[in-house]
Amino acid sequence: MTAETVRCFDALAADAQWYTFTPNERRITDEFVRRWGIRPGDWVLEPGCGSGRLTVILAALTGPEGRVLAFDASREFIRAAARRGMPAHVTLHAFRMETAPLPQASFEHVVCFNAFPHLVPQERTAYRLAGALRPGGVLWIAHTCSRGFVNGVHRQGPASLRNHLLPAPRVLDRLLRGAGLGEVEIEDGADRFLARAVHPAPVFAGPPVDRHA
Ligand SMILES: C[S@@+](CC[C@H](N)C(=O)[O-])C[C@H]1O[C@@H](n2cnc3c(N)ncnc32)[C@H](O)[C@@H]1O
Repeated sequence: MTAETVRCFDALAADAQWYTFTPNERRITDEFVRRWGIRPGDWVLEPGCGSGRLTVILAALTGPEGRVLAFDASREFIRAAARRGMPAHVTLHAFRMETAPLPQASFEHVVCFNAFPHLVPQERTAYRLAGALRPGGVLWIAHTCSRGFVNGVHRQGPASLRNHLLPAPRVLDRLLRGAGLGEVEIEDGADRFLARAVHPAPVFAGPPVDRHA
């Protein structure tokens, strides 16, 4: 990720669009929340959290017995998220996906919400996020608009974002399986995009990782 790309996102942090949901975005997000099935006590990782508009929802779903680790490459966005006054079980970091120190085998869910196209190189991102999932944990790639719309916006955006594209389902399926994930399901809809991929549970499971160590 170049300094120029980070500057683009710092500038985006001044755009009110990224702080609230339109009624349509909220309706789709509520439907996603039902699909995600995040339960009290779950650990959730949210790369590219922006201003934290989803983070507060994730925090309510996990409750204080769970944990939400949210990060973003833009310090401006992380400052904005911190200004919301997140509950104590939410941790915010100004991390870049490429170098974020991620706890291993720790999360029930990883939620990339309107962010995956930017997390380049995407193959490496999928591999790193898969490593952060507990066996049976789920990686979600969610967009509150169609793939065509996302890619159209990025293709017309600043030069450094033009190749930040949401892959076609066939390509994304291969990418996620290549990262060691399975049970891939992709909904490439007219008003949304949702991909799901599961970290396979080992046949002979050892003792679970102690996440509190
Ligand atoms: C389109 S915004 C979406 C933000 C938020 N998920 C939302 O829907 O409100 C994409 C976010 O990804 C972040 N981002 C882009 N590349 C990143 C990277 N390599 N590592 C971490 N965050 C990144 C940007 O700073 C930006 O906040």
